[in-house]
Amino acid sequence: MHTVTLCNGVAMPAVGYGTWRTPNETVGGLVETAIRAGYRHLDTAAKYANESGVGDGIRACIDQGIVCREDLFVTTKVWNADRGYGRTIRAFETSMQQLGLRTLDLYLIHWPAASQQYDCWKALNTETWRALEDLYKAGRVRAIGVCNFKPHHLLPLLDTCEIAPMVNQIELHPGMTRADEIAFCQENGITVQAWSPLGTGRMVENPEIQAVAARYGRTPAQLCLRWLVQKGVVPLPKSWNAQRMADNLNLWDFKISAEDSAAIDAMPYFGGSGEDPDKVMF
Ligand code: A2P
Repeated sequence: MHTVTLCNGVAMPAVGYGTWRTPNETVGGLVETAIRAGYRHLDTAAKYANESGVGDGIRACIDQGIVCREDLFVTTKVWNADRGYGRTIRAFETSMQQLGLRTLDLYLIHWPAASQQYDCWKALNTETWRALEDLYKAGRVRAIGVCNFKPHHLLPLLDTCEIAPMVNQIELHPGMTRADEIAFCQENGITVQAWSPLGTGRMVENPEIQAVAARYGRTPAQLCLRWLVQKGVVPLPKSWNAQRMADNLNLWDFKISAEDSAAIDAMPYFGGSGEDPDKVMF
């Protein structure tokens, strides 16, 4: 399993399995299939309402001797309604109960509090972050970070934090390259993860992506994921299909040329979630 090393020395598998929009009733079986396919990095969130199913899938694999807990890298996230110090600590404990885990590998703030909703957005992020720092210092979680933070959200946090975020999970896929944001994070020692790296499936239908992928003898999904991996980004693809899960992990025996990579970088926006951290009202 290829890994990237976070700024605190923790190794994180270089591709993760995403579970956004996967119902709790089915996620356990899918997590088990993903682990059997080779995934060791699982991404969920309190907001996905599927943490207990993810925990069931993990336990099933441990009980069958497929993996040990230590082999897995498990991420969850504190939802927006639980911002602030006390609420975040309680939300963490609830997530841990749901997952059935004693320690977590990565805990993330799901969205920044931002100026379109709050005058005191910086203080709110600082207080939420202080809870993550304390959970980290107490050894409950091996790494902490944020999601959907742009540089202007990160800068005030970097000014006030004691421990800097180790990860920023943002939406990235062809047509949404965000080179400046990746550079800002990497210059500050923050590992970037990509959610919806296949644009919730839209990328694989694009003729230009299909044509480049065909030249490498790869699937369009593998091309999109490899394009991210070559930037040092950790993609979190979702699939409910065992073959596609396995294909999405098989990225290590080809290299996209600088020219093709630049052509993908330059593709105009052609679909994505439409959720801008500076506009969302949830
Ligand atoms: P499926 O579950 O049928 O495989 P994202 O991770 O960007 O949100 O994209 C998830 C979507 O992409 C899902 O609809 C998933 O469908 C599809 N998908 C995942 N992997 C592949 C693949 N290798 N080829 C084609 N579609 C894929």
